[in-house]
Amino acid sequence: MNMLTKCLFPAAGYGTRFLPATKAMPKEMLPIVNKPLIQYGVEEAIEAGFHDIGFVSGRGKRAIEDHFDISYELEHQIAGTSSEFFLEDIRRVISGCSFSYTRQNEIKGLGHAILTGQNLIGDNSFAVVLADDFCVNSPGVLSQMTELYRQYECTIVAVEEVPEDQTRKYGIIEGEEFENGLFKISGMIEKPEPQDAPSDLAIIGRYILTPDIFSILRNNKTGKDGEIHITDAINVQSKKQMVLGYKFKGQRFDCGTTEGFVKATNYVFGSMTR
Ligand code: UTP
Repeated sequence: MNMLTKCLFPAAGYGTRFLPATKAMPKEMLPIVNKPLIQYGVEEAIEAGFHDIGFVSGRGKRAIEDHFDISYELEHQIAGTSSEFFLEDIRRVISGCSFSYTRQNEIKGLGHAILTGQNLIGDNSFAVVLADDFCVNSPGVLSQMTELYRQYECTIVAVEEVPEDQTRKYGIIEGEEFENGLFKISGMIEKPEPQDAPSDLAIIGRYILTPDIFSILRNNKTGKDGEIHITDAINVQSKKQMVLGYKFKGQRFDCGTTEGFVKATNYVFGSMTR
């Protein structure tokens, strides 16, 4: 069986909905209380058994590389003090994984970002995490999905019910529920208007993809807004082979928006002080 060890984090986007905060700082480094979004994502991946972490980054994203590296000066300064406590999680992350980086030179969409990451992935099935979709649950959403992958060995996307007037923000699946919360996908559409949406099930930022997705992406024409969409590529895949949609257990906060970000912050702070 194709072992899942590699997890890709597309993180090259401009984060325009968070300007001016994201003018000189990556959106993925915005902290939920005191931990950057991307660290939560990497911790979720580690919990699911991934140890090869790949980032698709871009200009202005150096802070991500620095975050997942040892800061000798800082380590020296705080050695033996109570502040060391705050570095425990990130030290564990750094020592438990390998990190690799590639750059997306032009911001041409999530599909293009994933295709750019092919050199970090090779010919393996792999996971994709969009760190701005902040998910909380135990076990994490990616652990739930790797469990399913072991059973079905196919592309799996995490889905969530969204209100009808929100379909135009997401990729929406068409499919048949064959087990509780598990859908066999027959098609998907990127950002449909409510009247064109085949369901109310939206794809969120957790994917397990089989490696044939790369050749589909390479041959994909640009879609809506002139971008290369992963939704269009998975749609092609779903016509040829089994692709699953999984209604995950847990809660998702859309931290690409200020509202979702504030809700996530309140949630995490609340659970820390309870
Ligand atoms: P978003 O759609 O949230 O775009 O991308 P964005 O640029 O981050 O934010 P806005 O819309 O301008 O506010 C979802 C994820 O895909 C990555 C982003 O970094 C984010 O993690 N992405 C998107 C890329 O890596 N490259 C792209 O070309 C597009």
